[in-house]
Amino acid sequence: MQIERFDYLVVGSGLAGLTYALKASQYGQVCVLTKGEVSDSNTNDAQGGIAAAVGEADSWELHEHDTHIAGAGLCDPEAVRHLVKHAPEAIRWLIQIGARFDLTGDDLALGREGGHSRNRIVHHADKTGWEVERAMVAAARVNPKVSVYQHSFVTKLQTSNGRCVGVTAEIEGLGQRSFEARAVMLATGGCGRMYQHTTNPRVATADGIALAIAAGAEVKNMEFMQFHPTTLYHPQMRSFLISEALRGAGGTLRNHIGRRFMYDYDLRLELAPRDVVARAIEEEMKKHETWCVYLDMTHLAPDLLKHEFPTIYARLHQIGLEMEKEWIPVVPAQHYSCGGVVTDLEGRTSIPGLYAAGEVACTGVHGANRLASNSLLEALVFADAAAFASKNASFANVIAFQDDPYHCISEAESIRIRRSLQRAMTAGVGIVRSSDGLRNTLGVVNGLVEEYDSLPFSPYSQHPLETRNLLIAARSVVESALRRTSNVGLHFNQDLASEVSPNNSAALPSPPAWRQNPEE
Ligand code: SIN
Repeated sequence: MQIERFDYLVVGSGLAGLTYALKASQYGQVCVLTKGEVSDSNTNDAQGGIAAAVGEADSWELHEHDTHIAGAGLCDPEAVRHLVKHAPEAIRWLIQIGARFDLTGDDLALGREGGHSRNRIVHHADKTGWEVERAMVAAARVNPKVSVYQHSFVTKLQTSNGRCVGVTAEIEGLGQRSFEARAVMLATGGCGRMYQHTTNPRVATADGIALAIAAGAEVKNMEFMQFHPTTLYHPQMRSFLISEALRGAGGTLRNHIGRRFMYDYDLRLELAPRDVVARAIEEEMKKHETWCVYLDMTHLAPDLLKHEFPTIYARLHQIGLEMEKEWIPVVPAQHYSCGGVVTDLEGRTSIPGLYAAGEVACTGVHGANRLASNSLLEALVFADAAAFASKNASFANVIAFQDDPYHCISEAESIRIRRSLQRAMTAGVGIVRSSDGLRNTLGVVNGLVEEYDSLPFSPYSQHPLETRNLLIAARSVVESALRRTSNVGLHFNQDLASEVSPNNSAALPSPPAWRQNPEE
């Protein structure tokens, strides 16, 4: 087997992967393996921004407090402190490599999102992820120490004596190749494609989670699946993200009769943490038997909407919806996996030589529910720490790479199995779960794994291997959800409904008459 040698290998080319690549390039040769084009990533689609306490009236302590409240008491305190203290420095680095953020005068313009007690979202209109990815890709392209293999699908993490020593991948046009390195960084993003409706791009197929599980790495908190409260409900553009920044700018949520229903659910109204708002919407739709609720931006100046949210404005315009005049129909959809491959503060997983960062990782900062705009920040801060930590890693004494006899099935079967998985996960492991629903879903997922494994072998194709990765990660989500015996953050099982999540309004001082809806 032909084996190429680099100092550092990176699987994935979103913000976490490219941050690690750029930082690690100070210490050696880096190879980035990405299964699509270099810019196909969750990062690219991120609208909101990057949270950082850089405003005058802000402090890392307040950012830390807000992260803990959103995380429902399950965040790792050390990880959160590391995150918020390094946020301003991470923004400075992005600016240094060429990312452009909106300014007010000479200062960064700071937006607001749910769960934040201050305006602290650094952004580039409503396409921050696109801008950040653009700057990172440009920096990687001119860096002679970073090589990028596109259309390279990693099928196996190679381990030797309990240590990760490299990977095996299928590379378009070249076939199977193996790579050896001093350190391997998993930065493969999320797993949203296990659901029918997700804001994630088509590449979000849980590849890193499945690779890590197969290699024996510790994975946790997979039940904390975040549903974004507001994605577009429209047949031609289902699940298009309607950024939380719109609620931060003053958008209000209304039911089908125009009632601002968040008054019935939480004193923080539309800017409560995401789990709270998504559950309120789900309940409101169930109560009134409606398919969606509405985001009302009609009281805001049309110029502000066009200027602050050009992408959303233009996309809505394409379907004939004028947000300055009409309410936007919205529904929650899968958005972010708060759990993942367990890492320490420097991105080390439980397997020596293997690091993880970004959505695939579970650093502990999100606890039971991620605070808005902490995801790009987490990717930046922890990938940076991992690059530094792997600086002095040495090559293992590799005995031999193992063969990877992966099992592909036909694409037609893969599509059928993936659709069944998406239906089962949407029905059984959504915003509100039940014990029976979870048990049934586990049965379905296990059945689909068995079915996949019993189908005849087909020649290599990426889709089936992605489907199998989704099945493995989905099983981990359902098993984790079944293990959790009380409701907290994003995990809400109606059979345990008497439990109170520490981040709901019951834990906060309640101002007098907060339920009073001034519109009534
Ligand atoms: C959004 O723009 O609402 C998404 C930002 C995030 O996921 O933090």
